[in-house]
Amino acid sequence: ACALFYKKDLKAKTVLVSAGPTVEPIDPVRFISNHSSGKMGYAIAGAAEKRGANVILVSGPVSLDPPVGVTRVSVGSCDQMYDAMLESLDQADIIIKVAAVGDFKPVSVQAHKIKKSGTQGAVTLELTQNKDILKAIGLKKRKNQYLVGFAAETRDLETYAVGKMEKKQLDMIVANIVGKSGSGFKADTNKVKLFTRDGQVTDLPLMTKEKVAHAILDAVVQAVV
Ligand code: CTP
Ligand code: CA
Repeated sequence: ACALFYKKDLKAKTVLVSAGPTVEPIDPVRFISNHSSGKMGYAIAGAAEKRGANVILVSGPVSLDPPVGVTRVSVGSCDQMYDAMLESLDQADIIIKVAAVGDFKPVSVQAHKIKKSGTQGAVTLELTQNKDILKAIGLKKRKNQYLVGFAAETRDLETYAVGKMEKKQLDMIVANIVGKSGSGFKADTNKVKLFTRDGQVTDLPLMTKEKVAHAILDAVVQAVV
């Protein structure tokens, strides 16, 4: 669509978005990651740019090109994403954390490729919990910064999502119903429900990730602009 058709309602705002998976190295050739395609986060970054925002996109490895006009910072691990997000946090007015961050990483990264010989057929990988980037941002953020998180849930959507919003001190949480067709990681469509800290609930229909992105930004604009 023509850029003229977008309301520039995010003009002069800096929007910091995280997207995609994280990758946690095990040894020089192996890693732990997840199925995130980055589509939802990239759709939000692109939509925010079209609405006039200055957009910084911190992204794990995905096969997508960055949206036109968006500054992309490429990261791998959760620790790298943490550093990149905190580096840009100060200048952000709105932070939207879409990334599927790995909850665990190997306790140590092997300097050399783990060989089959010597393992007697089985290996144990010891994992430790990653930093919670969103929770750290919730603690650090200024009152005039608007913080949005995502929650992917397979059951008890509202209870878990609202719980995460409170625990991480978010202003809004986008609850994603996963495991249903047309919704979730790889799809081009998504079905989400928005909850704000001040009690607003918006149940959006199944629609393209681009439309979902604009609907989320509509709700953010209503709250901050
Ligand atoms: N998140 C994060 N850092 C982590 C884990 C999650 O910043 N180490 C962010 C995600 O980007 C998302 C939100 O927290 O915006 C919720 O992620 P989710 O995986 O649904 O929740 P968790 O708090 O990790 O809890 P669990 O996976 O156990 O349900
Ligand atoms: Ca998690």
